[in-house]
Amino acid sequence: MPQATATIGVVGLAVMGSNLARNLASREGNTVAVYNRTTAKTDELIAEHPEAGFVRTTTVQELADSLQRPRTAIIMVKAGAATDAVIDELTEVFEPGDIIVDGGNALFTDTIRREAAIRDTGIHFVGCGISGGEEGALNGPSLMPGGPAESYETLGPILASIAAVAEDEPCVTHVGTDGAGHFVKMVHNGIEYADMQLIAEAYDLIRRGTGKSPAEIADVFQEWNSGELASYLIEITAEVLRQTDEATGEPLVDVILDAAGAKGTGAWTVQTALDLGVPVSGIAEAVFARSLSSRLGQREAARGLPGPSQEWTVDDPETFVEDVRQALFASKIVAYSQGFDEIAAGAAEHGWDIAKGDVAKIWRAGCIIRAQFLGRITEAYADDPDLSALLLAPYFRQALGEAQEAWRRVVVTAAQAGIPAPGFSSSLAYYDGLRAEQLPTALIQGQRDFFGAHTYRRTDRDGVFHTLWSGDR
Ligand code: NAP
Ligand code: ATR
Repeated sequence: MPQATATIGVVGLAVMGSNLARNLASREGNTVAVYNRTTAKTDELIAEHPEAGFVRTTTVQELADSLQRPRTAIIMVKAGAATDAVIDELTEVFEPGDIIVDGGNALFTDTIRREAAIRDTGIHFVGCGISGGEEGALNGPSLMPGGPAESYETLGPILASIAAVAEDEPCVTHVGTDGAGHFVKMVHNGIEYADMQLIAEAYDLIRRGTGKSPAEIADVFQEWNSGELASYLIEITAEVLRQTDEATGEPLVDVILDAAGAKGTGAWTVQTALDLGVPVSGIAEAVFARSLSSRLGQREAARGLPGPSQEWTVDDPETFVEDVRQALFASKIVAYSQGFDEIAAGAAEHGWDIAKGDVAKIWRAGCIIRAQFLGRITEAYADDPDLSALLLAPYFRQALGEAQEAWRRVVVTAAQAGIPAPGFSSSLAYYDGLRAEQLPTALIQGQRDFFGAHTYRRTDRDGVFHTLWSGDR
């Protein structure tokens, strides 16, 4: 039986688990026990990284025996049934007070279920969103733990030691109980989908409107990266656009098939928003834009559909590029505002006390949506924690006010030119919908009352009303 020398265990040694284990091992005071279903992978990792001083374990019992109490193990296995299987095994060998952390991309409702199932054993179960991909896992991810607050006393310092750092603060906070961490990670991914879609639309409009080459557009993004749009995604966009394909000498972006994949977290964000009744239209358009792009047969069949009869030209490329920048910024504000609305609605539904400003804070480094902009979100919630919508905070309100004319020009231009800009246009429609004094939904209420006696409320009196619409009703 191994001695209990390890301070933390990692279960699942594929790319994420291996990198997280190496990150943990590189921090002062940590001794990391590693376990993988297939032992060959454990041995491979240990052989490749002798400097990490890993404790080798080949069964979950050995893993449990190797850990100091209270035991803490982070699971990094395939989300779904594999996670359930590993949790069951660990629950058999762990004791009350020990902590099981699921760092996989679990659906938050699974995390709620798992936490509830384990609670009575006295073992703490923590669903922890981990963002930043392989590189983040190795060098500093953004960490979104949920689970019992009590477990955070033990877990907090360990997670803080490996998290990314933004302005001297580790990118980790106890988000809320049970599934709160995975919920917030899910919304993070939804926002990521929107961010990526908006950037892609900006690129498409500039390319087709100005005729600039991908490398020239890379320069545009590089310049944008020094302003209010500064972010990891804008930075890597410049790099992707600058890349040349070795085989053909063409810009790589021109030889990549334009069918975007998805692992499903964007769809989860939208499905959950539908259940909560939160309009996340920008995020939904981003998910649907990927689906549309992947329907290659249908796109092929639709290629002959007529487009605009007039040729589109941009008179002043510089002004157009600046308009697109502003449309991108405004649409991005809408996407984040919608994402934070979903977080607020999820917190209300599930009884989580989520500090939205702290969520923005832990996204400032380590994760894919890391951006300068997030500091503004933290400030907005610090000034008013009960802000009814992020876009109503003074900074964002002013930014939208300054950008909205350009945003409208871009959406009009896209429609006239026959260029799809679902992110830009749905965000603008959301903005106009939100600020409208009156919406045509009064008519919908009338229709509902007509065909289903669903009743309606009035603008001039309290109460619920029904109209006898015609003689026979
Ligand atoms: P992965 O391909 O999702 O999973 C492979 C790991 O799961 C291997 O260690 C595998 O063990 C283990 N596994 C699969 N089925 C199992 C079972 N029934 N019982 C025990 N172990 C089982 O690996 P990954 O890409 O490193 O991701 C790990 C987790 O992190 C996932 O939940 C993923 O969604 C999440 N995540 C990934 C990223 C990313 O950028 N890739 C970012 C954040 C979070 P064997 O070696 O024995 O097959
Ligand atoms: P992170 O928190 O770092 O964003 P993630 O959510 O697991 O980690 O994935 C980051 C991005 O890389 C996501 O956009 C994700 O997929 P989708 O866009 O398809 O949802 C993508 N990604 C991660 N692992 C992937 C894999 N194995 N294959 C394809 N895409 C992957």
